[in-house]
Amino acid sequence: DWNMPDYIAEAVEKIRAQVGSEEVILGLSGGVDSSVAAALIHRAIGDQLTCVFVDNGLLRLNEGAQVMETFANHLHMKVIHVDASGEFMKHLAGVTDPEQKRKIIGREFVEVFQRESAKLKQAKWLAQGTIYPDVIESAGSKTKKAHTIKSHHNVGGLPESMHLKLLEPLRELFKDEVRELGIALGLPADMIYRHPFPGPGLGVRILGEVKHEYAELLRRADAIFIEELRNTRDASGKTWYELTSQAFTVFLPVKSVGVMGDGRTYEWVVSLRAVQTQDFMTAHWAHLPYELLGKVSNRIINEVRGINRVVYDISGKPPATIEWE
Ligand code: XMP
Repeated sequence: DWNMPDYIAEAVEKIRAQVGSEEVILGLSGGVDSSVAAALIHRAIGDQLTCVFVDNGLLRLNEGAQVMETFANHLHMKVIHVDASGEFMKHLAGVTDPEQKRKIIGREFVEVFQRESAKLKQAKWLAQGTIYPDVIESAGSKTKKAHTIKSHHNVGGLPESMHLKLLEPLRELFKDEVRELGIALGLPADMIYRHPFPGPGLGVRILGEVKHEYAELLRRADAIFIEELRNTRDASGKTWYELTSQAFTVFLPVKSVGVMGDGRTYEWVVSLRAVQTQDFMTAHWAHLPYELLGKVSNRIINEVRGINRVVYDISGKPPATIEWE
């Protein structure tokens, strides 16, 4: 059993002793781990920390603005917001293979991050939100080449060629401890208890070729789905957002016929996906209430011009995976 104020005080002392008066950079994704690492390091060394937030054009609706609001405006941290969406889209043009897309997105991130951090010439440290389960996982994969179904990319794993010392203040913590720490450091509960979001973002939720136009439609449809999940409660009083482990919308590059007023439409399809799981290795599709599904479908079709059909994914994992790519 740990005492949070003592833990924070100790962690802060440890970071100060390690870093001294040197400068630190951190790749902020908006996810729980990098956010908590940033808040903790900032508590310890203030403006010696600079965060780099890379917008790859594959984030959720208003995500960039929210990250800047929380970290720059509210917590007064130094955050560099890099809009690299054009660059990511350019490299993804014409690419349809899911693994290829993951590789490109991972590689582009490293390139953009390295370019931005090269501008911060004083930086001697690279901070990462590595947590204990990541440490175990990468130790395992070095010895017994893990059988990979999908290569997972996230913000970690920047190359050693950056010649920076690594600062990983969350290395000994489990996910629930990281969340508790984040709340104690003043991060918003919405951010700390957000469903997981994959590193390649909407890049693996737009099937096949990724286009800016598709990402725009998907962002709006997904925001409606998430808003309704947050606003609808079951008999126990919990929201459906809390009752599901992960929920999102997938863009299918397929057109189907519909009617609108007295006109015929020929537009895109999206699928809703919502799962319940303990460990994300196996998962059940969530039995969302029909009324909720119906409302989400109506709202998406009425509010997002360009989408005229909504379907619900009722596949378990296995044999399906949680993401569609
Ligand atoms: P799957 O689709 O394999 O997903 O059932 C299991 C969990 O992993 C997440 N996921 C990823 N996370 N980079 C990530 O950081 C990735 O490339 C990636 N692919 C899948 C997925 O969202 C789910 O939580």
